[in-house]
Amino acid sequence: MVQVIKKNNQLQDVLIDKRVGFVPTMGALHEGHMSLVEESAKRGLFTVVSIFVNPTQFNNKEDFELYPTHLERDVAMLEKTGCDIIYTPQKDQIYPEDLVMEVYDHEFYPVDSVLEGKHRPGHFKGVAQVVHRLFEIVKPQYAFFGEKDYQQLAIIRLLCKKLSLPIEIIGMPTIREKNGLAMSSRNERLSEAQKEKATLLYKSLCYAAESFATKQPQEIKDSIEKHFSSDDEWELEYFEMVNPDTFETIDSNATKHARALVAATLGKVRLIDNMKVTSHEV
Ligand code: PAJ
Repeated sequence: MVQVIKKNNQLQDVLIDKRVGFVPTMGALHEGHMSLVEESAKRGLFTVVSIFVNPTQFNNKEDFELYPTHLERDVAMLEKTGCDIIYTPQKDQIYPEDLVMEVYDHEFYPVDSVLEGKHRPGHFKGVAQVVHRLFEIVKPQYAFFGEKDYQQLAIIRLLCKKLSLPIEIIGMPTIREKNGLAMSSRNERLSEAQKEKATLLYKSLCYAAESFATKQPQEIKDSIEKHFSSDDEWELEYFEMVNPDTFETIDSNATKHARALVAATLGKVRLIDNMKVTSHEV
């Protein structure tokens, strides 16, 4: 039976001598989150899922206020997976008044200064802060993150390296709807018609992956930008193909491995997605 815990000291008592697999989330759970939980359970780990909508990583007040929450539904979903503990702290457990923490401002250059880092100033600073704090509280041996937030995953790996944390970070593939749309808590804010329209992100990434062997990055980018600009409901923030380690933009398809990443707003909802891109012989 899954246990819901709100307080750090209670959580830490339960975790003594356990091999912990940790899945940090902001709730409004879907199958993408569940795939991380299942992987942790499959590995025989004592699985902790945190649900905390972290205010410090939102650079947009409305996005924070409209972020969906439904704890009861989340608990019901987690009861059906191998989750052992649901940790649902209030703000005072994560950010007590006397807390002194390192500030991660431009700490992970260049990875935190491009794409999401550039378009959502302060976002990764907030993510690094909360994940560091959660790691301090939960002290897991393993932590599971989705490739859906590819740049975030890279930042977490850099954070662990910088702090020499003894945590193995496991990256898991993006779970999609049947039509290709990457699952996301924010999809709840889309109408049915918008959910269909939102497949443009996935289609653009597939197009990039298919064309990479024969077309140069700029040509691919131009064609994708044209698609987005032909519909007023879309606002493309970026489409880039980057080196998957340094996140530097690649300007030639002579590179064997790249990652295509896209962010766009549909109506009022900001969506991101990404895909691996490889040239012919790989
Ligand atoms: P959240 O958006 O709730 O995502 C929690 C975890 O689920 C992240 O590792 C994310 O990459 C993963 N995830 C989301 N959608 C997914 C999908 N379609 N397929 C696979 N994995 C998916 O990311 C955050 O919360 C926060 O930034 C957090 C790390 C919890 C810090 O506050």
